[in-house]
Amino acid sequence: MFKRFDTLIDTIISRMSLDEKIGQLNQICFSTDPKTIDHIKDMIRKGQVGSLILAASSTAGNDDNSSVNRELLNEFQHVAVNESPNKIPLVFARDVIYGHRTVYPIPLAQSCSFNSSLIEECYSDIAEEASSDGIHWTFSPMLDLCRDPRWGRIIETPGEDPFVAGKIAQAVIKGFQGNFEKGKLVACAKHFIGYGASEAGRDYHHTEISDYSLYNYYLPAFRSAVKSGVGTVMSSFNDINGENVGSSRFYMNDILREHLGFEGFVISDWGAVRLPLRQGTAVNDADCAEQCINAGTDMDMVESSYINNLKALVEEQRVAEQTIDKAVKRILRVKLAKGLFENPYCEAIVFDRQKHLQNSRKLAAESMVLLKNDNKTLPLEKDKNIILIGPFVNERRSLLGSWTLDGRAEETQNLYEAFCETVGKERISNSICGNADTIVLALGETNQMNGEAHSLADISVTQEQKELILRAKATGKRVVGVLFYGRPVALEDVEQYFDAILYAWHSGSCTAHAVCDILFGKTSPSGRLSVTFPKKTGHIPIYYNALRPGKTVNAYYGDVWQGALSACYIDGLANPMYPFGFGLTYTEFSYGEITAEKQELSLSDIENGESFKLKVSVKNIGEFSAKETVQLYVCDKVASVMRPLKELKGYLKKQIEPGEISDFEFELGKEQLGFYLKDGSFKLEKGEFDLYIGENCLTERKITVKII
Ligand code: BGC
Repeated sequence: MFKRFDTLIDTIISRMSLDEKIGQLNQICFSTDPKTIDHIKDMIRKGQVGSLILAASSTAGNDDNSSVNRELLNEFQHVAVNESPNKIPLVFARDVIYGHRTVYPIPLAQSCSFNSSLIEECYSDIAEEASSDGIHWTFSPMLDLCRDPRWGRIIETPGEDPFVAGKIAQAVIKGFQGNFEKGKLVACAKHFIGYGASEAGRDYHHTEISDYSLYNYYLPAFRSAVKSGVGTVMSSFNDINGENVGSSRFYMNDILREHLGFEGFVISDWGAVRLPLRQGTAVNDADCAEQCINAGTDMDMVESSYINNLKALVEEQRVAEQTIDKAVKRILRVKLAKGLFENPYCEAIVFDRQKHLQNSRKLAAESMVLLKNDNKTLPLEKDKNIILIGPFVNERRSLLGSWTLDGRAEETQNLYEAFCETVGKERISNSICGNADTIVLALGETNQMNGEAHSLADISVTQEQKELILRAKATGKRVVGVLFYGRPVALEDVEQYFDAILYAWHSGSCTAHAVCDILFGKTSPSGRLSVTFPKKTGHIPIYYNALRPGKTVNAYYGDVWQGALSACYIDGLANPMYPFGFGLTYTEFSYGEITAEKQELSLSDIENGESFKLKVSVKNIGEFSAKETVQLYVCDKVASVMRPLKELKGYLKKQIEPGEISDFEFELGKEQLGFYLKDGSFKLEKGEFDLYIGENCLTERKITVKII
């Protein structure tokens, strides 16, 4: 889709000097410092800048001193389109990750909503707000598959499942980019690839990813991003099996461009062109630049390795000028697609902020997961007194999560304020011995406890918060935990003390109101976990779509060996605290039998694109209207290589009224039944497939189909 501009681009490139071409590959930092402004203008005038990043530091999310200044952006653009050699517009980038002024739930939380259309709408809102501030290009969605909640950046990920990640990629990219019209942003699928697999959750660390895992687990989200027309991709900081990704032809060219068919451009991560030097596979900065440009990393984010070295590298014939031309071409494709040549300046856009806040509240409520609700503790009655305590009662900033640049804590209501609005101030006590039957305990981690370069070695609840839970339990009152975390927390030690647990995440501008919507029954909870919750840190990594070890009976989530569930560890049960796909609600659903249109299919028919349908009816047998997320899992029973016991291949979320029966229909074909071999080819094999449909990954409701 980006190639339609190529003839025009060839003409532009034919007029450009080598210096100007290299300038297009250079992204520099925005600044409001008067001395730096003149320097930046001078560089733009000389054609030395392709893009500006509007951020003050590399770990920008938790940074408070980064700002956008529309007038200044227009001044820079004015220099580019009037005074630079070929008048090529600049593209302005910023980390608009899951919100701008209106902040939506952190991506990990969003992925628990299993609601792609709402996510798409929210990202369209975000695009309006950010483009109104002059931003053209955002470094989102982050599509790193993550199985390790110690990693601080798990908050930005879509969780542990490739299918969910693919759906999120599509929704976010459609929402952000639309058709690149006014009010839209160019998206960036990041980090390509494998960054989320860093050993032990240590940020920027080494990864080992087999080819089977690469194709079947790590690439699907990027495959979906490319299919959705993503304009840009960011290379990652990590190495895979000892090879730096951003300087690897295999990853940046063979996989991204040839295997996935990506036509846009690649930006390095912050200063990542220099990584081979630190990793010991380059002798100097020039060597790094040579390796990265030859691999296919087109734009250098902020460290000037390209601008300082590429000209000499071309003169020394270490880099071909055609390689530079290719990179420029890919960058100009995106600038043209975004319409920057016709509309280089930013203008304010009229948008409905109230609608954005409503969407943010809806998505927050759909992202929160009810983990426990003994004896129907929830929903709470509005006319009863409540004790509201804990370190998150008055917290604002953390509710916005760790990667927000433009959200404002002072505009974010805290839980106390939302409770006052919902039930009235007079009903709320902040004393643990207050006159009430129920204690709502607001616990969690701050935004500074996660995010880039903020990993944790221990993901359990802090000692201080554990003590508070025990004190609450000792009162004999009912204890409702509302947990505000950016990652899964290990709850084994404390789960038993709660009557109910609502996992509220860091869910953005309307977190507190969304919590009240759920606690007081205005909305039934509908979030489902997109990531497994381990009982304790030592069980990491634990993920549902693992391969089956041979010695165990079931090997699914905590090995069952010779009848003992704890066989894999002798110091406790190792099955998850809460499995992938899990989440409760206020009503109950009853599933009917699964029916399949066909139970025997010919391999050649499916190879030729034939599909078949599976159906299940779900009845709401409780008293509340609620949404159910019906999940379809596939098990390829015997294959030429080991296959997981279950893989999610479809989900549908629908509101079902009490007494109502709703039909859920899934269509399956080659894509859902086949898999990638280690050479990257896709294969569908004959044999039996168990097709499970249910409420989470532990469902045993299945039907078997045969491919003959
Ligand atoms: C992060 C990226 C981010 C970039 C720009 C890097 O440190 O890894 O995700 O987009 O900085 O702020």
